[in-house]
Amino acid sequence: MELETKRDIYSHEKGDLLPIVTYPSPVLKKIAKPVKVFDEKIKKLCQDMLYTMYQTPGIGLAAPQVGQSLRIFVLDVDYNRVESLGPSSEKNYKFENLNPLIFINPVIKSKEGQMTYEEGCLSLPGLYEEVNRFEKISVEYQDVEGRNHKMDATELLSVCIQHENDHLEGVVFLERLSFLKRNFLTKKYLKGQKRKKNSSHS
Ligand code: CO
Repeated sequence: MELETKRDIYSHEKGDLLPIVTYPSPVLKKIAKPVKVFDEKIKKLCQDMLYTMYQTPGIGLAAPQVGQSLRIFVLDVDYNRVESLGPSSEKNYKFENLNPLIFINPVIKSKEGQMTYEEGCLSLPGLYEEVNRFEKISVEYQDVEGRNHKMDATELLSVCIQHENDHLEGVVFLERLSFLKRNFLTKKYLKGQKRKKNSSHS
């Protein structure tokens, strides 16, 4: 498959839906490998990751979450997904204010300030908790062609970049919580996962 235009990659309409890996899958605990060759395969993966993020929906998705241990994440903290019902009450979605971003081989260069934000994760369904993060960061990264970029981020964008970057280090947001909170929530989450598994067998 040849992806010709930037629009093809940065799309909420084109691509394949990838299955999302959930915690505690081993791939989520691995340190992801840098991207060295910027070929069609990488472009296709980025397109599929953006498509999967928009359709799921989520505001960020890292490659390990789709089973690929590579230093890539995508995000969009600006878009709205508006639901409406079609003639035979099927659900239709309209996307507004799209701002898709792709980060390859990101490195967070500076961090300052502090903020707290309630985070969730597509790999930890049903779990939400306040996490402490840096308020302002600056990140260097490459695009799908391997060109270098630098971005300063604050607020939700900053939080999201830190959350996704953690996935590349094999860290999920649970591990950013206090010991007690982390233990409590991990147990609660694993119990929920077990229940889901059992009920799907019966
Ligand atoms: Co996540």
